[in-house]
Amino acid sequence: MKKRILVIGSLNVDAVIEMKKMPQVGETILGSKVTYIPGGKGANQVCTVARLGDNGKILGCIGQDHFGKMQENSLLHSGVDISTIKKSDSAATGMASIYVDEEGNNSIVVVPGANAECDVNYIGELDKVIQESDYIILQMEIPIASITYAIERAKELNKIVILNPAPAPDHISGELLEKIDYITPNETELMRLCGKRGNAVEDYRNCAKELLQKGVKNVLVTLGNQGALLVNAGMEKIFPARKVLAVDTTAAGDCFNGAFVVALSEGKDVEEAIIFANAASSIAVTRNGAQTSIPTRQETDEIFEQMMSVKK
Ligand code: ATP
Ligand code: RIB
Repeated sequence: MKKRILVIGSLNVDAVIEMKKMPQVGETILGSKVTYIPGGKGANQVCTVARLGDNGKILGCIGQDHFGKMQENSLLHSGVDISTIKKSDSAATGMASIYVDEEGNNSIVVVPGANAECDVNYIGELDKVIQESDYIILQMEIPIASITYAIERAKELNKIVILNPAPAPDHISGELLEKIDYITPNETELMRLCGKRGNAVEDYRNCAKELLQKGVKNVLVTLGNQGALLVNAGMEKIFPARKVLAVDTTAAGDCFNGAFVVALSEGKDVEEAIIFANAASSIAVTRNGAQTSIPTRQETDEIFEQMMSVKK
């Protein structure tokens, strides 16, 4: 039977402001363009799940406003079942203000808004959705109490849990780490979780091993244009990225995570699933925006086949 994927996380609108150079503290500059694009780590991941697989539900909360509608339309159009999304009576849809400079660097400030109402009560009320799912994937733009509750409940029900610790907190408790099947930080998130400094692959391996010792089963670190590093009890391996001309990396990590869980849910082994995720996100970085950059299944399969043939 087909495996089901549930995303629990944030839904935002991204106000993408383009400029030549990032402003300094205290400086006012003129930007060149502003675009409103559906985003949010949870929404981007479920969008990827639906475009690449053909299912995907999300537990998360939007406001009853224009941006909430924009988000619903984008997800609906991608094939997401939006029936479980909560609508706040009072809060506005979460907003990410994304500054992008001429070189494609970005800096992001997220105001959670309605995402703060993705609370334990709401998740508890939709317990049936957790029960019916096989893979549960979460990020960290909703309240930590909700994340903790959902992971504990998912594990009670023997589900596979993937945590994308973004944005990364300084610490995740050992009791929670023990319940995580796959943790998927980028390099900076990994170092922050371990409270260490360093930017060499050796540093990442050491931190990943620390997380393994604390009970996580697999640590999968995304390394931007270098690909991804998998560390688990039996393997330490880098999966190189495809060489592309990246124009905007917003949601690269979300696309990677969504594609990874789709591949696992289809029965690909973990190595193939990482190659599939590298394939999908290598396409996303060649396009602007968050959900606007997520590829189709056909596009991803073509690149995946090429990457698999290079591997053989
Ligand atoms: P973001 O926060 O921008 O969404 P992230 O920091 O969470 O992204 P990254 O590690 O930058 O995630 O990228 C995720 C994946 O996207 C990488 O593992 C890689 O597969 C792919 N990727 C990112 N940048 C590039 C690039 N320049 N060329 C090819 N693939 C890339
Ligand atoms: O990962 C990219 C996402 O982070 C953006 O879409 C923005 O909304 C923030 O949540």
